[in-house]
Amino acid sequence: MPFEYANRLKKIPPYLFVEIEEKVKKKRQEGVDIIDFGIGDPDIPTPQVIVEEVQRQLNDPVNHRYPSSGGEPEVRRAVSDWYKRRFNVDVDPDGEVCILIGSKEGIANICRAFVNPGEKVLCPDPGYPVYSQGGTLLCDATPVKVPLRPEKGFLPELDALPSDAKMLYLNYPNNPTGAVASKEFLWKASTWCVETDTILAYDNAYSEMTFDDYSAPSILECCQGTGAIEFGSLSKTFNMTGYRVGYAVGDATLIAGLKKAKSQVDSGCSMFVQKAMVKALDMYKGAEKPELVKKNIAIYQERRNVLVKGLRSLGFKVDPPKGTFYLWLHVDTPSMKFADKMLQAGIVCTPGIGFGEYGDHFVRFATTQPVPRIEEAIERMRKVL
Ligand SMILES: Cc1ncc(COP(=O)(O)O)c(C=O)c1O
Repeated sequence: MPFEYANRLKKIPPYLFVEIEEKVKKKRQEGVDIIDFGIGDPDIPTPQVIVEEVQRQLNDPVNHRYPSSGGEPEVRRAVSDWYKRRFNVDVDPDGEVCILIGSKEGIANICRAFVNPGEKVLCPDPGYPVYSQGGTLLCDATPVKVPLRPEKGFLPELDALPSDAKMLYLNYPNNPTGAVASKEFLWKASTWCVETDTILAYDNAYSEMTFDDYSAPSILECCQGTGAIEFGSLSKTFNMTGYRVGYAVGDATLIAGLKKAKSQVDSGCSMFVQKAMVKALDMYKGAEKPELVKKNIAIYQERRNVLVKGLRSLGFKVDPPKGTFYLWLHVDTPSMKFADKMLQAGIVCTPGIGFGEYGDHFVRFATTQPVPRIEEAIERMRKVL
């Protein structure tokens, strides 16, 4: 029966990435060998010690039952302890931590908990589409674009933002630009939010995916302790995108609202996955990354370096990003046209327009391919550009 979508769902623009997937599928069917830099999904397996911990936890029938929606007490404590070691901030495991089914879930549900229909939500552009779509539009609220411009280091101009919004999403290290934010900027942003009575929803999903001795701060190091909630994830740090586990930490009122909204729509992350997260976080003995994470990051750092060097050899101006496994490349044609040209050469990159209008004339490469494939992609590009 031809049921109509609800109006809020009709407002979600067509998913550009589905269109791209279709084009890629067609190319593959034609027998083209595709080098895929499209999706931000690690190609490296989860470390064996974490896989084994999931298996061990799965063998315990206690973990076969419903979890509590906001997270098991010992898991919330592990997150709180990790925040102390990693960022030197104190968070109350009972009132200020919520375990998530991946950070995406919390990023969307925070809107459900606090944003009323018609209220404004400030969403970075270019940005992770969940802020404006799965979060804002699905709550019948109004996304307001926050331009991230290259000449400003992809940081928003706070003074230019409307002061009557309900919430501001920020994300550093940033997808798709790879930009990072200084503590000084984050202090300014959190102060602006307090002054304008705007919730600060800080997406720190790439906090551990940083290079060249750069260590990303937590927003909780850069605010007075109220009005901010931070989302974190194990997806990229430990190559665990498929497990669906993350956390939210911060202002007790925001965490309580998030837990209340969540408890009405989900029953939490599986206990065997939550408990394996404890094992992963406990590898951090202090602020420094443990060997296993360092090894992982070294792989992405080498790939980044090879890609940057190759792109420079093709005449592109590009700086190596300090965070995330994305490379945000300025191109002189509309991004869709550039991505189509790349596809003719069997290379998938994501057109920046898919992340918002300010993303046009950029394309994103996710370094989820081994070094020899990156080198081959550069040679293919040399022939078609
Ligand atoms: C900026 C950003 N935030 C959050 C997420 C969600 O990650 P997860 O739900 O796997 O924790 C992603 C995933 O790609 C992302 O790029």
